[in-house]
Amino acid sequence: MRRSLNAMTADCGGEAALDRGRPLGHQRTQSVPAQAMSAISQESFRRRLQAVAAATAAELERALAAAARAGEIARPERLLAAMRYAALGGGKRLRPLLVVESAALFGVAETKAIPVAAAFECVHCYSLVHDDLPAMDDDELRRGRPSLHRAFDEATAILAGDALLTLAFDLIAGEAGDPDPSVRVALVGLLARAAGIGGMAGGQMLDLEAEGRFAGQRPLSLPLEHIERLQSMKTGALIAAACEAGAILGRANPAEHDALTAYGRALGSAFQIADDLLDAEADVATAGKPVAKDAKRGKATLVFALGADKARGRLAARIEEANNALKIFGPRAAMLNETARFVAERKA
Ligand code: IPE
Ligand code: IPE
Ligand code: MG
Ligand code: MG
Ligand code: MG
Repeated sequence: MRRSLNAMTADCGGEAALDRGRPLGHQRTQSVPAQAMSAISQESFRRRLQAVAAATAAELERALAAAARAGEIARPERLLAAMRYAALGGGKRLRPLLVVESAALFGVAETKAIPVAAAFECVHCYSLVHDDLPAMDDDELRRGRPSLHRAFDEATAILAGDALLTLAFDLIAGEAGDPDPSVRVALVGLLARAAGIGGMAGGQMLDLEAEGRFAGQRPLSLPLEHIERLQSMKTGALIAAACEAGAILGRANPAEHDALTAYGRALGSAFQIADDLLDAEADVATAGKPVAKDAKRGKATLVFALGADKARGRLAARIEEANNALKIFGPRAAMLNETARFVAERKA
């Protein structure tokens, strides 16, 4: 049942566009019309995603080595094994790709962006571990394997999540994050706000509340804007922040920074709609995680609020919004345009 990254990234469908390879040149350009934007093929996109995934895994391997780092006392074997299980066990590595490709718009080399990309992936992996816990979504399968609390135990899963979250800040705070301390501080603040009460953790709280767990014991009937806000927090915040991290690493001007934030927000919203559609329509072997569970739990999703067809329409609108936000970058943003297509068409 376990699926390789190859298999997962091969799932992005749609028309193959003219392959002009990786966008060249990172000089600042003026706004260009949409039809002037270059396109890249799905094959180029797949290769790029695989390369970033491999570089992210190598960085995580280094960060999760057996030897204690300077300032640490010891690395308990069981906790390290659990963290490695969570962080090195596959996944699309979308957030690292967003960091690397957003930074690449400004000429930042991949090697410089990877520690920050790996930090975002640590937070994401921690969020999945805790999301699957019996007290949260109670899911037994993740990335085609037993969830961490099934492979180990609940206490280990809680601690592995805690330790992955803190490792993320360690990765950014070190000089590998960026040579300029003020940039590192900005990245720490960005990631903290995306992961915390006003972002992912807060969104997870609203997600559970919407199930009716804490009052009434029946799913709440939330207005659309509330569902969208909940999703923009639990999923969108980290995705948008990954794009903003690229802007910060690249010393983007305010208009460029805002454009990447707008792209990331629209993409984050599209990503969760696609996730909710997968829950309703995909099979477990393809998704690599349990499906058809959101309805049973009374999760607040646009698929239930609007129906699958309208949710698909909203997903397409978000992708268009995301691509519109990138127009100021012209052809340099081709990889991010293709990333939006991947998010819309992904099968896992
Ligand atoms: C799944 O995220 C959880 C959500 C935020 C919806 P991904 O679909 O990015 O999970 P992996 O990393 O590829 O396993
Ligand atoms: C998860 O949303 C968002 C996170 C912060 C992890 P879901 O609960 O829908 O994600 P899956 O479907 O379990 O991957
Ligand atoms: Mg959840
Ligand atoms: Mg879940
Ligand atoms: Mg889901």
